[in-house]
Amino acid sequence: MTRQENEHWARFWSEYQTDVANKDEQSQVLRTRNKQPIDQRKWEITLDTVGQQLELQSDDTLLDLCCGNGLFTAAFGPRIAGVEAVDISPVLTGRLAARGLPNVRVSTSDMRDAQFAPRTFSKVLWYAGIQYIDESDIVAMVRRIRGWMKPGGILMIGDIPDRAKLWDYFNDDTRRAAYFDGLEQRKPIIGSWLDAGWIERLCLASGFASAEAVLQHEELIYADFRFDLIARC
Ligand SMILES: C[S@@+](CC[C@H](N)C(=O)[O-])C[C@H]1O[C@@H](n2cnc3c(N)ncnc32)[C@H](O)[C@@H]1O
Repeated sequence: MTRQENEHWARFWSEYQTDVANKDEQSQVLRTRNKQPIDQRKWEITLDTVGQQLELQSDDTLLDLCCGNGLFTAAFGPRIAGVEAVDISPVLTGRLAARGLPNVRVSTSDMRDAQFAPRTFSKVLWYAGIQYIDESDIVAMVRRIRGWMKPGGILMIGDIPDRAKLWDYFNDDTRRAAYFDGLEQRKPIIGSWLDAGWIERLCLASGFASAEAVLQHEELIYADFRFDLIARC
């Protein structure tokens, strides 16, 4: 059985079909709250924050892991040397490829199958994607990402579901029952919830020189239960 057949989230995204003609770009990647897409102001804060945390420079080579329909790639591509964008969803990578951005290479693949030469990227963005794999695969991915990065590079893992906020999110009996049902059925709601200290220590043990979990800007769409991680080579 392949991963895509076996795992809920890999199957969900690899089979994901979205009626692109009738959906705005944020809803296409499910950046919604109560079925409403993130508003323009919150999205601009998101872009500013991510750009600043990655300290983007004109000579940067960026890996956009779990790129979706390329909202970050399209915003950052024109400012830097090049972007390699990877996602498991053919529908979403098709949207990005259709933009025809000159310095962007798009591939459709499970992130766990991605292969790059050592020291290929100065910056790596893994935004709203880490929760779709389990802890074993997260360990393997962080170690491999470190190998793909240039000295002085910066990794940003964005929008990580915060284990410390789990019961703020599943905050009544009905929601807690749904959470446990999801785990039992191997269809975890949201996906993996991570402890900030755990991901910091994993980055340090994987060869990053520093790793710091950071709170999100309070106006961001999921700031009440997600955090970001910045790791430097
Ligand atoms: C919530 S969307 C975020 C997209 C984009 N990073 C953004 O923030 O706009 C999550 C993305 O992760 C991708 N994804 C999920 N599991 C994946 C996997 N195993 N390998 C590669 N991409 C994956 C999905 O296809 C989807 O595009």
